[in-house]
Amino acid sequence: MKFKRRTHTCGELRESNIGQNVVLNGWVAIRRDLGGVTFIEMRDRHGMTQIVFEPTYNPNEHEHGKKLRSEYVISVEGKVRKRPAGTENPALPTGYIDVMVDKLIILNHSETPPFPIEDMIDVHEDLRLKYRFLDLRRNEMQKNLLLRHSMYQIARKYFDENGFVEVETPILMKSTPEGARDFLVPSRMHKGKFYALPQSPQTYKQILMVAGIDRYFQIVKCFRDEDLRADRQYEFTQIDVEMSFVDVEDIFEIVEGLMKEFFKKILSYEITLPLLRLSYDSAMEKYGSDKPDLRFDLEMVTLNDVFLNSEFRVFKDSVTNNGIITGLLAKNCGNYTRNQLDVITDFVKKLGAGGLIWMRVKENDLDAPVAKFLSDDEKQNIIKKMNAAPGDLLFILTGQKIKTLSIMGALRLEMAKRMELIKPDSKPSLLWVTEFPLFEWDEETKRFYAMHHPFTSPRLEDVPLMETDPAKVKARAYDLVLNGNEIAGGSIRIHDSKLQSKMFDALGIGEEEANEKFGFLMNAFKFGAPPHGGIAFGFDRLAMLFAGVSSIRDVIAFPKTSSGISLMDDSPSHVEDKQLTELHIKIKN
Ligand code: AMO
Repeated sequence: MKFKRRTHTCGELRESNIGQNVVLNGWVAIRRDLGGVTFIEMRDRHGMTQIVFEPTYNPNEHEHGKKLRSEYVISVEGKVRKRPAGTENPALPTGYIDVMVDKLIILNHSETPPFPIEDMIDVHEDLRLKYRFLDLRRNEMQKNLLLRHSMYQIARKYFDENGFVEVETPILMKSTPEGARDFLVPSRMHKGKFYALPQSPQTYKQILMVAGIDRYFQIVKCFRDEDLRADRQYEFTQIDVEMSFVDVEDIFEIVEGLMKEFFKKILSYEITLPLLRLSYDSAMEKYGSDKPDLRFDLEMVTLNDVFLNSEFRVFKDSVTNNGIITGLLAKNCGNYTRNQLDVITDFVKKLGAGGLIWMRVKENDLDAPVAKFLSDDEKQNIIKKMNAAPGDLLFILTGQKIKTLSIMGALRLEMAKRMELIKPDSKPSLLWVTEFPLFEWDEETKRFYAMHHPFTSPRLEDVPLMETDPAKVKARAYDLVLNGNEIAGGSIRIHDSKLQSKMFDALGIGEEEANEKFGFLMNAFKFGAPPHGGIAFGFDRLAMLFAGVSSIRDVIAFPKTSSGISLMDDSPSHVEDKQLTELHIKIKN
């Protein structure tokens, strides 16, 4: 089929083109027949142009145009004209002109699409994912992909200009424990052995520092077999960064510079540097989260000192058992009904709270089911400490520290929603959370795990605590948080073998296990490892936030559903027995 190369895209023609002969290629978006005239909105990724088939202008092509249906692929040749007065469409950049068709070529037909190719469609996401090629034709999805494209370019340009080298690292690698479950790939050549898909290029980028690369970055796919959520996919993209001869400040400076570029180029917004820094401990205590959303205040307040001598058993137990009593003030919510309070109580119970203490603030008094257990002094002190006023509502949770703070953190977000504290024009909240604990205690297995990974350096002043009180050791680790989302995380690494041994000891990893799992990295470290550190951005999350959508699936061309299925190509799928035999694999029934 012969057709002429397009002279313009469907988003390009303006009044200055009136009178020109043009060729457009694209898809039939909308067809309307009015008074014997056929109007087609013709679409490509650049925009829409109205083309017109008029019987008096060209009877043959008018007849031909009657065959057009949604999503047919066409090429038209015609003349640009000014739209007749009163028919202009100011909402479209091409809305002041249309094209009178001299010649139509139908390049391809299309079945009727299962949903309209337009913005704001009310269609189940599964259907969109099954017909992703149609979903991606929609303007809002094209915008997201183009945004992602710009973000790749901004990042690559920024790192290049700052002396970073982009290096690709393997997708088939050794299985190394990094926190999540590995995706494994069986080896055909080496019976019973497996490659793992990288959860991140962590070990490779550290080895690149030993190799003298000095400043590395990579836009890279990572794979983690973990439960999927709106902000989690099995395969996701990181902007991965590692630097030699640096400390925390140097990493922050580079990352902040990139964030400044992103905000400027994408949102035309100037962020103020340096960014706010919040220690993990105060983030937990004030906001109940290691990724606090600071677009609104709503600070939690620790009330332990109010209840040091409390007669109320629940509080007394908490104070004596190293627990926490934390309060949240909901301004002007004193008129919440019992029913509303029951719903909120259920909300925290579902998260594991034993119950929720609530109090209505009155003039110099508290009206609450637990009020009778509290002394007048305690009531006054709560009011004072919480800065409460008559008409306010107070919530108190108590119990084991981190768990209780986290639940209050979730209630904080829930109340922010109910009180509509996040406004469309709220300033973005971008901050560092620093000084994470080095270790995390696991009640089930009764041992410490690395909160980040086993190569994360402790704060040097805390090294002696590694043997005496590991729970108190802080890491030189940091997360970058945007509007309550963890968008990047990293650390300064251990490059000293003695300190690394200490770390393995604290984690209960013996020499043999360390050698088996990390021997290749330890081996490289014997040959002059420079001090180094780095960070990785969750690129999809970043794109999601800049696109203003609430799921990373909307900024990924071909994502999996929350149950890990690709509806379009139907994976995962069965394979032939022959393939399994070659891989020395038998499926158990
Ligand atoms: P971390 O595990 O914190 O660090 O990952 C870095 C960032 O990647 C994003 N992220 C995800 N995004 C989508 N789906 C997922 N399943 C997913 N998991 C993580 C998050 C997170 O902040 N190697 C270290 C980095 C380092 O220490 O330099 C690492 O991977 O936004």
